[in-house]
Amino acid sequence: MSPGKPIKCIAAVAYEAGKPLTVEEITVDAPKEHEVRIKVEYTAVCHTDAYTLSGMDPEGAFPSILGHEGAGIVESVGDKVTNVKPGDHVIALYTAECKECKFCTSNKTNLCSSVRATQGKGVMPDGTSRFHNAKGEKLLHFMGCSTFSQYTVVADVSVVAVTPEAPLEKICLLGCGVTTGYGAAVKTADVQKGDTVAVFGAGTVGLSVVQGAKARGCSKIIVVDINNQKKQWAQDFGATDFVNPKTDLKEGQSIVDKLVEITDGGCDFTFDCTGNTSVMRDALEACHKGWGQSIIIGVAAAGQEISTRPFQLVTGRVWKGSAFGGIKGRSDMDGLISDYRDGKLKVDEFVTHERPFTDINAAFEDLHHGDCLRTVLDLSK
Ligand SMILES: NC(=O)c1ccc[n+]([C@@H]2O[C@H](COP(=O)([O-])OP(=O)(O)OC[C@H]3O[C@@H](n4cnc5c(N)ncnc54)[C@H](O)[C@@H]3O)[C@@H](O)[C@H]2O)c1
Ligand SMILES: [Zn+2]
Ligand SMILES: [Zn+2]
Repeated sequence: MSPGKPIKCIAAVAYEAGKPLTVEEITVDAPKEHEVRIKVEYTAVCHTDAYTLSGMDPEGAFPSILGHEGAGIVESVGDKVTNVKPGDHVIALYTAECKECKFCTSNKTNLCSSVRATQGKGVMPDGTSRFHNAKGEKLLHFMGCSTFSQYTVVADVSVVAVTPEAPLEKICLLGCGVTTGYGAAVKTADVQKGDTVAVFGAGTVGLSVVQGAKARGCSKIIVVDINNQKKQWAQDFGATDFVNPKTDLKEGQSIVDKLVEITDGGCDFTFDCTGNTSVMRDALEACHKGWGQSIIIGVAAAGQEISTRPFQLVTGRVWKGSAFGGIKGRSDMDGLISDYRDGKLKVDEFVTHERPFTDINAAFEDLHHGDCLRTVLDLSK
């Protein structure tokens, strides 16, 4: 440990949109006041990383260190940090929780405003970066996490300590996808026993919605995906039905018609886990008249808009959205880890691939294959 001193380590730097990451030595400065330096042990790659790297994210800035689904061990802390200490096992949080701002104290949302402005610009709350490359060039932070580096610095409100008994190579997934889907079901939608649910998109996020619906005892959990490879997974995570809109509809039948038929009038809850705006419309319109709620989780491409006839809402359907599953990272993580350790929350099952960190570009390729839910990278290799 070298508290207070810069550390040289290996990171994967995104220099340019649409180009592979460059694995190279960088320098990570010491944490300042209210900052925490983490030795990142494991990170997964999420679609948001790929989206930003592709150049389609209008807020994406380069050169930067991406990554936001990571877990590690606190190496050192700056002044005034009280929530974690060196040696703590931690998960980085892209949705901070300061417990003091208007949002945090409202008890109506998990969105926290404390570091939002600087996080969006790729800098620490004081407006500067802790990363630079061998040439001395400044590298930007990403989503307040930057887990594609052996060491990273985050704001103290963007990190939560967890029990050292939980395996970091698995619980890194609680930093985004698994928590997002599960939370959307049990917190944002708050689905109840007997409810009928349709989940569009059976990636990590959608399958974790499915496990949340199953945990609550929903009567029908219908997975809609255009990839038949997802059928087995959907069943394994608790789906009761699987519909592929490309192959399983009758002549002239729409996916909305099909869901309305299966559920005798429409679903109590639907979830978009695809990011496709026409799927979002179908998901809303497949809701039951009078009370059905549709939750948007997927991130649409820049500039895309949603639409439906207003009559859909007039007649009682509700459109909602959910970021990080409505989960408050610092207050709620302990409960999720307990559920995981008690066997109530599946996490290990989402790890389909494991690779050394230096193979990170291959992990981005994995995302495009139907046989991959999450690739976990080992930062020690
Ligand atoms: N709101 C949040 O906080 C948050 C957090 C994490 C991820 N996300 C977003 O959630 C979405 C899902 O993430 P993921 O990691 O599970 O992605 P993924 O790519 O692994 O899964 C998407 C699934 O949707 C299916 N699909 C694509 N088009 C479809 C269509 N027209 N109809 C039905 N199924 C279709 C694909 O076959 C795939 O199985 C992404 O848009 C991601 O950016 C949001
Ligand atoms: Zn993510
Ligand atoms: Zn806050």
